[in-house]
Amino acid sequence: MSSIRGEFSSRFGFIMAAAGSAVGLGNIWGFPTQTASNGGAAFVLVYLILAFCLAYPALMAELVIGRHGQANAVSSLQKLANSPLQKKFAFTVGFGGIICAGLILSFYAIVAGWMFSATVEPIAAVTGLVSTSTWLNTQSLPRDLIFTSLFIILTIAIISKGVENGIEKWSKRLMPALLSILALLIIYVMTQEGAMEGLKAYLVPDFNSLLDPQLLVSALGQAFFSLSLGTSVMIIYGSYISKKENLVSLGAYVTLIDVLIAFVAGLLIIPAMYVAQAQGVAIFSESGALLSEDTLVFQVLPALFTSMGDIGYFVGFAFFALMSIAALTSSISMLEAPVSYAVEKFALGRVQATWIIGGIISLVSFTIIFNFSALFGFVISLTTQFSQPLIGMLCCIFVGWIWHRNKLLAEIKNGHAEAESTLFWKVWPWYIKFVCPLAIAMVFIHSF
Ligand code: PHE
Repeated sequence: MSSIRGEFSSRFGFIMAAAGSAVGLGNIWGFPTQTASNGGAAFVLVYLILAFCLAYPALMAELVIGRHGQANAVSSLQKLANSPLQKKFAFTVGFGGIICAGLILSFYAIVAGWMFSATVEPIAAVTGLVSTSTWLNTQSLPRDLIFTSLFIILTIAIISKGVENGIEKWSKRLMPALLSILALLIIYVMTQEGAMEGLKAYLVPDFNSLLDPQLLVSALGQAFFSLSLGTSVMIIYGSYISKKENLVSLGAYVTLIDVLIAFVAGLLIIPAMYVAQAQGVAIFSESGALLSEDTLVFQVLPALFTSMGDIGYFVGFAFFALMSIAALTSSISMLEAPVSYAVEKFALGRVQATWIIGGIISLVSFTIIFNFSALFGFVISLTTQFSQPLIGMLCCIFVGWIWHRNKLLAEIKNGHAEAESTLFWKVWPWYIKFVCPLAIAMVFIHSF
């Protein structure tokens, strides 16, 4: 079977693909908004600690399961099981992750569709298509259905091309584009009045809010979402890594890039909020609380773009193109999780499997669009606050308690000859066994 499986052709290709999965709306929208509504720099500090001390070790668990299994998430987990009961458990965890990835895609595609229409909107405005621009600007069923479908079709088009010619090729193109747009936007915002005040709120922590338990829960959820954990995605991406690669450093690169881009996105969004405030757009209440999280991207920032005059069209276009690209490199990873399973389990062709699963996910998306107020928030909470931490924790338990320790270490050693002399080797197996499951469970229980 391994001959028909894809593989990333290079180290750079894997890093771009996995970082592409990790870097998404969670980084550019979620992280800055959470930071603004959870006490600014204090949240940043807690987030950084949790990302490196909990999310990175958990990411390594998923990558190592996949690289060892060289198969879809369910089969990779089942290869570690020693008894029929453990096999069932493996199925539940792997399949649960795949369903979670599909459900995340179903709401993510709706949000990404909004980003798409917001990218097209300035073009319509500049070319004088006033009524089109108003239509694109106003939430409506037809608009959401059209742009969600477009986004899913684009995701399907990339995934049906496979690992090297689809995921890897497009991630290598889109990720550098994303970084360039982000850098240009930051330079622009930093030159505006009010930006420095925003920078201060972002970087100087208020230590009083550090111990707020809500802050911990939000930061952990954000870190898990951002690293795409608990969705089988990193297991499947891990399965496309060659045995010659050093997994420990690959995982570290992905974590670093993800955290760095979230941090850098904060350098754009938080100062932009203060710039908008300085221009008379209401963003913070008198007590300094964020007035509305939901309106940030679609009202606050567009108001800022409008206040810039003509250049605002261009900046708005660049900003939403950035969001759309970030969303696309993430959504392809979400679709790959169920597709890889269907291809290997039911012996379907990749193209066929991709369209069937993409079709099913579109139907779920449409159901959410038609029952927006009842379902949208529910699916987000179910997947990001409940399933992701739970499945992420179960993967740690698999690696720490079910997999034979020597076999686990042998997998780490592939492509990393001097692994035994590293701190990772000494600490991680123990850490993944006790610290990660416990810490995740504690935060998880607290969130109820
Ligand atoms: N990590 C992505 C983001 O930050 C979202 C994602 C979640 C991707 C789960 C894949 C799986 O936007």
